[in-house]
Amino acid sequence: MEEHVLDVKNLVKFYKGLGGLKKVLAVDQLSLSVKKGEVYGILGPNGSGKTTLMKLIMGLLFPSKGQIKIFGSSVKKLSIKKRIGFLPEEAYLYRFLSAEETLKFFAELADVPRREQKTRIADALHVVGLFEARKRPSRTYSKGMSRRLGLAQILIKDPDFVVLDEPTVGLDPIGSREIKEIILGLKERGKTVLFSSHLLSEVEMVCDRIGIMHKGKLVLTGHLNELLLRKNEYSLVLEGFDIGRQSELEQVLQKSFHAKVISVNRSRETMEDVFIKTIKKHAS
Ligand SMILES: Nc1ncnc2c1ncn2[C@@H]1O[C@H](COP(=O)(O)OP(=O)(O)O)[C@@H](O)[C@H]1O
Ligand SMILES: [Mg+2]
Repeated sequence: MEEHVLDVKNLVKFYKGLGGLKKVLAVDQLSLSVKKGEVYGILGPNGSGKTTLMKLIMGLLFPSKGQIKIFGSSVKKLSIKKRIGFLPEEAYLYRFLSAEETLKFFAELADVPRREQKTRIADALHVVGLFEARKRPSRTYSKGMSRRLGLAQILIKDPDFVVLDEPTVGLDPIGSREIKEIILGLKERGKTVLFSSHLLSEVEMVCDRIGIMHKGKLVLTGHLNELLLRKNEYSLVLEGFDIGRQSELEQVLQKSFHAKVISVNRSRETMEDVFIKTIKKHAS
């Protein structure tokens, strides 16, 4: 059985400077492996090389140096290409086709048997929330809807490895939550996902591992928990506690457990949760 879905070794990409400009080193000696079933997030500021890395992985750009293996093979092979779905930074949509027509086109491209096309297309439209809007030409879609149509194209193909370049960029919190849920749904179905983002909060909720990219290099990689959990520090969430008795509690913890209280805070919701709850309440 194949262990790694993606293996990148010592990858380097220079862009030629136009008109005597200096060459740009966009990816610098980068190595990365993604395991089957993993969701891997590439986090990095604008210009750090995320898009270049993804285009190299997809075989849309040619590496200056280094190696890329997908399912142990080259992405140039058609049998490998068939197993990958890609959402580029800018979705290329056929502006005069509706979502339904677009997906029909992609179903043909992906060799989905005719008799399965209808249900697959309807399922994908439901998953990305475009069923109601399926007959409208895609030029009338909002940015979020276009992004979701891009994702539906991937679902139609049903690939084993999904590569998404900034899938939530430019979306409101509800749109980006929905995309995160689609990513988690892919993971549940055993798919492997590599996606990029320049926003920390986007990767926290969905990734098993992350890599932080800076000037073409992966400068930090690891499991989310390894990176975020503080050593030997725990937080306790209490309900029905009388805050007036805080010092008593601290004394007990000190005396019986030799534990020092570092901070006591009211529990908070995230602004994203408040926003989504409010909008949902007013929508129903
Ligand atoms: N076609 C190109 N020609 C020359 N330089 C490019 C090209 N595309 C990207 N770059 C440069 O490569 C670096 C990485 O860009 P990119 O991969 O788009 O980063 P990110 O997706 O993280 O924003 C940047 O310095 C960018 O200006
Ligand atoms: Mg980019």
